[in-house]
Amino acid sequence: MTLMLAAQEMGYASCPMDGFDFEAVAKLIKLPEDHVISMFVAIGRGIKEAWPRGGQLPLKEVISYNKF
Ligand SMILES: Cc1cc2nc3c(=O)[nH]c(=O)nc-3n(C[C@H](O)[C@H](O)[C@H](O)COP(=O)(O)O)c2cc1C
Repeated sequence: MTLMLAAQEMGYASCPMDGFDFEAVAKLIKLPEDHVISMFVAIGRGIKEAWPRGGQLPLKEVISYNKF
């Protein structure tokens, strides 16, 4: 998220992704044995606005205080 916020501050758009074949990508980029891939963050110049989002759920539906 910090990377994405920094990109945004610099005028770039970004997109996180983890729906890919981690092992295939590791092989492709010759990832060293002592490294792991956690996700992609594509960063670049946006060419259009992001699609509208669905909106935020009411907090009382997603937060539990002290007990369930
Ligand atoms: C951790 C994380 C991983 C994501 N991985 C994918 C992904 O593998 N493929 C994908 O299409 N979107 C992924 N997304 C969502 C995209 O970042 C992006 O919001 C989405 O593709 C936008 O498309 P939409 O506007 O059509 O929903 C991921 C989001 C997060 C936060």
